[in-house]
Amino acid sequence: MYNSKITGLGYYVPDNVVKNDDLKEFMETSDEWIQERTGIKERRWIDPKSGDTTAVMGAKASRIAIERAGLTKDDIDFIVFATLSPDMYFPGGGVQIQEMLEMPTIGALDVRNQCSGFIYAMSVADQFIKTGMYKNILVIGAENHSGGLEKSTRGRNVSVIFGDGAGAAVLSRSEEAGKGILSSHLHSEGKHAKELALIGPSTKRWVPEIIEANDPDDVSYYPYMNGQFVFKHAIGRFSEAIVEGLEANKLQKEDIDMLIPHQANLRIAQFIQKKFQLSDDKVYNNIMKYGNTTAASVIIALTEAWEKGKIKDNDLVVLAAFGSGFTWGSVIIRW
Ligand code: COA
Repeated sequence: MYNSKITGLGYYVPDNVVKNDDLKEFMETSDEWIQERTGIKERRWIDPKSGDTTAVMGAKASRIAIERAGLTKDDIDFIVFATLSPDMYFPGGGVQIQEMLEMPTIGALDVRNQCSGFIYAMSVADQFIKTGMYKNILVIGAENHSGGLEKSTRGRNVSVIFGDGAGAAVLSRSEEAGKGILSSHLHSEGKHAKELALIGPSTKRWVPEIIEANDPDDVSYYPYMNGQFVFKHAIGRFSEAIVEGLEANKLQKEDIDMLIPHQANLRIAQFIQKKFQLSDDKVYNNIMKYGNTTAASVIIALTEAWEKGKIKDNDLVVLAAFGSGFTWGSVIIRW
């Protein structure tokens, strides 16, 4: 059996910076409230005139990752694309990337696991590489949240949190024992699906029905989040996923060199840091700059940490995420 190793990383965020105070144009909020509860100072929201979309940003991040892997688009055997905000209801975004990068007719798979989407996508890619089916897989996480948020006081508990962006990794076959992805761990608990969800439009509630009802109180086409409920579950599940990953590899919390938590809320990341007694240099957070970019958050943070030289050869890198579904998981990597 082969191992999979990350050979290229890239990310792209829109130029348009939206500071907390800028949100006051749309809603009653304050920089103080947002920073105190979430740690967020600013986020990137696509300027609609820029041409950026979920797939366009994913393609931009992918080009960087492929080049850094020392490969060309023709060396990629398969695409796994994670997003909750695709450009189209169907088909998925993976095929758009395949077209935008002018790739041959390789397979493209979309993963819809929200904040843990990138963890799921990495795990899927890892299995294909381990079995020998593919050699180089492009794994992408990208989100355009700003187009679908309710930017008003009614939607402020959700809309201040989310930002746009994309990241990509190339996973390649490696025969170096004990290096690369050591294991991945995936979980879900569907009974909490509605606690963090966007329910309509959907096949249960088609657009004509929504238009006909013309109900100003209908918020089913905006994301809904039961914030405190999500918070409570997040801290428990994050911890479980990390412990499970360490135990599976007979490792201790002291072995962690870099933890990249999904950037849901700085308070959640700080709780986890404290619980695992990790020093500041062993946890990478960038939610302050980008907000929660859902399926893009782990890969943007991983790429930034790597670009800053915070990840070195042989380091134990732990990726962990929790989100809508509920879904959660971890990926344990020996760099
Ligand atoms: N600006 C100012 N006030 C706001 C606000 C905003 N953006 N959003 C909500 N409020 C108000 C509420 O209306 C409420 O006012 P009230 O007390 O007069 O009714 C008050 O602030 C407290 O709201 P609440 O929702 O209870 O706040 P909270 O302490 O739970 O913080 C979250 C809200 C969303 C920051 C927090 O619950 C959270 O981070 N949850 C986890 C979210 C998460 O991780 N999501 C992603 C999962 S992947």
